[in-house]
Amino acid sequence: MAGPPDSLVSALVARGLVSGVEWHEIVTSTNEVAAEAIARGVREVHAVVADEQIAGRGRLGRTWHAPSGTSLICSLVLRPMVSSDVFGLIPLLTGLALVEAVDAFHPGLDAALKWPNDLLLQGRKAGGVLVEAGQGGAVIVGIGVNVDWRGVDRPPGVSDATSLAEAMGWGADRWDVLATLITAFSARYRGWHLQPIGFLSDYTRRCATIGRNVRVTTLQGPAISGRAADIARDGALVVSSPYGAITKVTAGDVEHVR
Ligand code: BTN
Repeated sequence: MAGPPDSLVSALVARGLVSGVEWHEIVTSTNEVAAEAIARGVREVHAVVADEQIAGRGRLGRTWHAPSGTSLICSLVLRPMVSSDVFGLIPLLTGLALVEAVDAFHPGLDAALKWPNDLLLQGRKAGGVLVEAGQGGAVIVGIGVNVDWRGVDRPPGVSDATSLAEAMGWGADRWDVLATLITAFSARYRGWHLQPIGFLSDYTRRCATIGRNVRVTTLQGPAISGRAADIARDGALVVSSPYGAITKVTAGDVEHVR
């Protein structure tokens, strides 16, 4: 399986969007390879891209399923120059970049987010983001996008997933998706350095969770049900219960309910 074309990598480097791109046919997880790259001292934004992962990681300890040749699997090494107090916003700004990349790739797909950063196309999951802390203040942003899942058998757990090609009705090239995503991400990442919460109004507009009735499962305590009212300045989801209680959720799995 061929990696990203040299011409694409050179263009991304020349435009100052990445410092380098590292390609692998198969890895455990690109987030793990990114952690090794951090230990080697790579500069930001270093991109690790793979065709396949044997231990792809999802949020909340889940596994990430992406058959060979079907998906964009990539991790970006960042070395942010802002207070670590706002690092918690990186998952949201990456989610916003993801929907903006889909817009740029193909407008009219109704791309939206399920808090914090599930990419939804026509209401079905087509991508996700896993942000992890790296050594020495570095950050690893892992992004998975289902590019072309036409004819792919979905195992239980991802039976409702869709892909860009299915939403569009025609084929999609993962390297085009990579270029578009890195361009969108770079703009949001730079903007975040200048104004860390400046993107939240755009995020809130693209977040399909806001205004919905939700059931949120967290790793601690019972599930929370209520209406997703807002996004707090730290990126938490604000849920209001029918009895007026307000809960701020910082990590959890959201289900949109009727
Ligand atoms: C989610 O659960 O929605 C987040 C999925 C994140 C998957 C990506 S694929 C590239 C990177 N490497 C991983 O092991 N996970 C992330």
